[in-house]
Amino acid sequence: MPGPRDPMSVPNPRSIIIDTDPGQDDAVAILLALSVREALRVEAITAVAGNVPVAQTTANVVRICDLAGDTTVPVHRGAETPLLVPLHTAEFVCGPDGLAGGDFAAPSREPTPGNAVEAIVSILRAAPDGGVTVCALGPLTNIALAIRLAPDILPKIASIVFMGGAMNLGNITPAAEFNVFADPHAAAIVLGCGRPMVMMGLHMTLQAIATHEAIAAFAATGTATARTINGMLTRPRPGGLGSVGHPMHDPCVIAWLLWPDLFGGRDCHVQVETSEGPLRGRTTIDWHGRLRLPANVHVVDTVDAPTLFDRIFARLAALP
Ligand code: BDR
Ligand code: CA
Repeated sequence: MPGPRDPMSVPNPRSIIIDTDPGQDDAVAILLALSVREALRVEAITAVAGNVPVAQTTANVVRICDLAGDTTVPVHRGAETPLLVPLHTAEFVCGPDGLAGGDFAAPSREPTPGNAVEAIVSILRAAPDGGVTVCALGPLTNIALAIRLAPDILPKIASIVFMGGAMNLGNITPAAEFNVFADPHAAAIVLGCGRPMVMMGLHMTLQAIATHEAIAAFAATGTATARTINGMLTRPRPGGLGSVGHPMHDPCVIAWLLWPDLFGGRDCHVQVETSEGPLRGRTTIDWHGRLRLPANVHVVDTVDAPTLFDRIFARLAALP
């Protein structure tokens, strides 16, 4: 039953922009967002280089929209490279096209004309103050560029909910989580932007692992979406990534908007290490307030994973 804080019970959908680098877990996040039209209005999906280069992440966004039966959400191609560091992709995790294990067709359409950064700026400029929530599922390059290009958009942002960073060990290096490592300078700009930030870090998203039983039950629905998700989530993953199973990092961003009751966390001061070396991309989270600096991020640290996946799969069952 929807609770009082459940946006499923709210008549007006919340406007969001999804910035993403699909990636299997990005795909599940986008599918989830497209399955809850009554709660979320997806103003645009903007692609960034990350798991794979941006030409491929852009094509992947269209392939994911096609699977969801969506032909109308604008899909914009964004930054080709991080702000200052060289591009570092993760085909060794996601496969050569970023969506290994999935059963996606070739993209049905070209990306929408106009660069992702310009699209973010123009959507935000047209919005009322606090009118759009930015959902960041990849390196923060596009969002940092939009903030630098047009700081007047900042009041229009309700919040930036991002998957990135880690309180404990990293996944791409011992110190760093992939999205922040991939563009640490962009992460530093976004974390310093002064708007409300919500951090879905690795310490929490590694708790969000769908069980084989839950995946199998969803697969039994027999839809194209279920077949594809089953293929992606049961695919063997490279070892040493800190979990068994396939963690659903990015869907936590969308789930936070839908079901905040499933998550716990606290406001903290968070800093990003931008210098080269073993700590590049490290997020230092002042969980106990030792530095006595103002909090800039709501850091999420717990999730009720069984309920999360019950709810995610119930929504995804409505897709083709
Ligand atoms: C993040 O990195 C990517 O590989 C995933 O899509 C997720 O956004 C996890 O570190
Ligand atoms: Ca991602």
